[in-house]
Amino acid sequence: MPAIEKLGAATRTSSLWSPDDVTVIFVLGGPGAGKGTQCAKLVSDYGFRHLSAGDLLREEQNRPGSEFGEMIKAYIKEGTIVPMEVTVQLLENAMKATMEKEKGNNKPMFLIDGFPRKLDQAHAFERSVVPSRFTLFYDCPENVMEERLINRGKTSGRADDNMESIRKRFRVFVETSMPVVDEFEKQDKVVKVEAVKSPEEVYEETKAKLKERGIEPIHLVFVKN
Ligand code: C5P
Ligand code: MG
Repeated sequence: MPAIEKLGAATRTSSLWSPDDVTVIFVLGGPGAGKGTQCAKLVSDYGFRHLSAGDLLREEQNRPGSEFGEMIKAYIKEGTIVPMEVTVQLLENAMKATMEKEKGNNKPMFLIDGFPRKLDQAHAFERSVVPSRFTLFYDCPENVMEERLINRGKTSGRADDNMESIRKRFRVFVETSMPVVDEFEKQDKVVKVEAVKSPEEVYEETKAKLKERGIEPIHLVFVKN
């Protein structure tokens, strides 16, 4: 990737795509709220493409020769937000690759999970990539998220699923990410789901709320010969 100040989010003055070409739904919620779990379910029932900002950052961090690897590693360990130009570029690249691969298919629909975690990311993405349709927000109290993260930490191998990093990530979520939810809320672009119950129950509420916004599962038709 080119230097940070040369990336699209920093230089482009209009959006790459229009919401008529591609649907983007942001998926937010504190660490451990269940974003990834719900996204996996939505992918199989709705035909969404799932992009996790955190996963893309970890991938870039581990890519041999990445000029941003060391920087990303330090931010993730501290639970702070990586400079938005990098994350927006990784998302843009991943969207392009998916669209290229599926050229000619139906209108692409993306769930972008764990993004935007900061107002500058939200503004840069909507300005230079594509405006989102709405944000799916998984609301969960910290004690529940903490328990889930500690459990996940036993097997995830993630450098940030430990008590010290978790505390920092909670603080960043409240101070830096909630303002994004609040701003979208004012635009009536937040779909809030309670995320305390079991994954199946949370998913039922998710489906009901998506339906209210006109988004329905895809029904596969099997044709008998
Ligand atoms: O979403 P996830 O928990 O996988 O994110 C892990 C870390 O990646 C975050 O704590 C943060 O350091 C970084 N991140 C970021 N910007 C995003 C998403 C993740 O800086 N939009
Ligand atoms: Mg995740």
